[in-house]
Amino acid sequence: MNSSDKYILEIKRLKAEKNAIILAHYYQTGDIQDIADFVGDSLALSQKAASNNADIILFAGVKFMAETAKILSPDKKVLLPDMNAGCSLADSCKYPDFEKFIKDNPGRTVITYVNTTADIKALSDIICTSSNAVQIVESLPPDEKIIFAPDRNLGNYVLNKTGRDIVIWNGTCHVHEEFSLEAILKLKKENPDAKIIVHPECELPVRMVADFIGSTSSLLQFTKKDKGKSYIVATEAGIIHQMKKENPDKNYFPAPPRDSTCGCSECSFMKLITMEKIYNSLKIEKPEITIDKDILIRAQKPILRMLEISEKLGL
Ligand code: 13P
Ligand code: SF4
Repeated sequence: MNSSDKYILEIKRLKAEKNAIILAHYYQTGDIQDIADFVGDSLALSQKAASNNADIILFAGVKFMAETAKILSPDKKVLLPDMNAGCSLADSCKYPDFEKFIKDNPGRTVITYVNTTADIKALSDIICTSSNAVQIVESLPPDEKIIFAPDRNLGNYVLNKTGRDIVIWNGTCHVHEEFSLEAILKLKKENPDAKIIVHPECELPVRMVADFIGSTSSLLQFTKKDKGKSYIVATEAGIIHQMKKENPDKNYFPAPPRDSTCGCSECSFMKLITMEKIYNSLKIEKPEITIDKDILIRAQKPILRMLEISEKLGL
C-alpha cells in the first residue's frame, strides 16, 4: 500500500467517525475529486453546502468557497486544509475600494460573483456564479442599473449577452487571463475537428473563437452530450479529469497559456490542497473557517437570493 492509499483509507475512516463530507471543486487534482462525496462547480457546491446532514464540511477548493459554505451552514464546522488557498480574482476586489466603487456608482444593484471574500458579499445585493450570471441579471427588471464585480471578462460576457446597463469592476483570474489565442488557434489548425470550449472568465478574443462558452459544469455537460470527439478546453485543466471519466474515448487538449513554461492553466491556489493536508485537517479539525457574525449575516442574504432565483429557474 503506498502512502496515498493509506491517506485515502484514513480519510474514509475519519469521515465516517466524524460525520464529515468532502466537497471538491472540478479544479482539484483527480485523486482528490475521486475521494470527494460531491464534486461540482461553484453553484452546485454552494447548493450542496446549503443542504446536507454532515457535522463537518471539509472543502477541497479555495477560501471563498469554504467561506460560502460556512455562511450557508453557520452551525457546521467548515474546514479548509490550507488557508493559503486563496484566489487572485477575489484578491483583486478589496473592501474599502469596492465600498467606494459602490458609492461612486449610486442607484445600482450590486451583483457580485461568488469569487469574493465574505465582506465583499456583505456589500452585495445578489451573488452569482458563472453558471447563473446571465440568468440572475435577466431576472431583474430591464431598466435596473447594475454593478458587476469582480471579474471583468465574465462581466463583459454578461453585458454582451443581456445588453443591460452594467458597470464592471476591473478584476481578473490569473488562470483564465493567461490563455493564448495564438496557441489555441495553432492547436485548432493541428486538430481541425476539435471544438474550442471556453469558460466566460477568459478574455474576449478567446471567447470569440469559442464553439461553446460556459461554466465548468456546462463545459462538462457539453462534452458529454456533443457528438464531437475532441475538445480544446480553455479553463483550469482539472476539469479534464471528469471529462475523461465521463467520455474516456474522446480527446481533450488543455488550452495553452501565453507562457508555455509556466503551467498557468492550473490554479496554483486550488493545487495547494493535497491528500495529506486533507487527512491532517480532518484529523485535528483545523484550519477552521470563522467569519465575523455581522458579516456572515449580511453576506447570507445575497447568497440566499441567488439560490432562490436559481431554484426558480431550475438551475
Ligand atoms: P465555476 O465553478 O463557476 O465554473 O467557476 C470557476 C472558477 O474560477 C472557480 O474558481
Ligand atoms: Fe480564483 Fe482563478 Fe483559481 Fe478560480 S481559477 S480559484 S478564479 S484564481
